[in-house]
Amino acid sequence: MARPKIALIGAGNIGGTLAHLAAIKELGDVVLFDIADGLPQGKALDIAESGPSEGFDAAMSGSSDYADIAGADVCIVTAGVARKPGMSRDDLLGINLKVMKSVGEGIAAHAPDAFVICITNPLDAMVWALREFSGLPHNKVCGMAGVLDSARFAHFLSEEFNVSMRDVTAFVLGGHGDTMVPSVRYSTVAGIPLPDLVEMGWTTQDKLDAIVQRTRDGGAEIVGLLKTGSAFYAPATSAIEMAEAFLKDQKRVLPCAAYCNGELGVDGLYVGVPTVIGAGGVERIVDIKLNEDEQVGFDNSVNAVKGLIEACKGIDGSLA
Ligand code: APR
Repeated sequence: MARPKIALIGAGNIGGTLAHLAAIKELGDVVLFDIADGLPQGKALDIAESGPSEGFDAAMSGSSDYADIAGADVCIVTAGVARKPGMSRDDLLGINLKVMKSVGEGIAAHAPDAFVICITNPLDAMVWALREFSGLPHNKVCGMAGVLDSARFAHFLSEEFNVSMRDVTAFVLGGHGDTMVPSVRYSTVAGIPLPDLVEMGWTTQDKLDAIVQRTRDGGAEIVGLLKTGSAFYAPATSAIEMAEAFLKDQKRVLPCAAYCNGELGVDGLYVGVPTVIGAGGVERIVDIKLNEDEQVGFDNSVNAVKGLIEACKGIDGSLA
């Protein structure tokens, strides 16, 4: 049987890391696509040359021609610009919306059966626009944010509790921005919810509140340190986890930006919710009940996403 084909649209920092991870994990043959001359070809060759040491057989190629993504099973989209210090994700909207138009049209023409994972920011608006421009089914287009935000939350929690990251389950809902909702109630250490751990004296409410805020600011913290761009190792790893769930029909329960049809009270919008990802793409949205506080935070986040989508419609009349 032929290996799956993975098309990476955007061969920058995240795209290159995605390609390397996909190769090492032998998820399939990889095509790196970018408009920058030589960049996708150069990264593909560099990664291919790591094959003999790493011991993978996956084919690597680079291209600036959409025809080369033909028949891709998975497309992961990072095309666009990343933020610099002082910029919010929302500041990228105008530039990246135009990029989503060309990418959506390219995918529709050459890989209409792919499972598409968008990473380009501002995520919740860009994944919506990408779906609109591509016309693919909603369950085959989703956005990577929740896995990353939850991983950041889990990392900070494991440090605070001095326990293995493997035993921390963290849960972040809502848009991928300042209004995201790290859920304390649904996050656990080996099944023990965080509020119980506060009661047990493992941490204090103040420290937990600070970790929640650090999670919300997780992307900005890295932008501030790097100065020249934004995070790429953890974002790429998160998207690969989603791609693997699809390719291996794992039915993983992963938070991602999915199109809601009434779930969690959201209708006709992409926002971060827990989903089941398997061979059918986003197969199910886990329609959890929120408590009053969580609902306020979630509604606030949903409203922020709605604002971004209105801004997209204002910029590109074809989306209105
Ligand atoms: N088509 C294809 N590729 C494009 C296009 C386009 N229309 N426009 C830009 N690109 C490419 C750039 O040439 C660049 O190589 O997208 C790549 C983006 O790479 P980086 O600038 O290194 O950005 P990266 O860190 O990978 O982040 C990409 O993901 O997390 C988000 O906020 C981040 O929106 C940003 C995206």
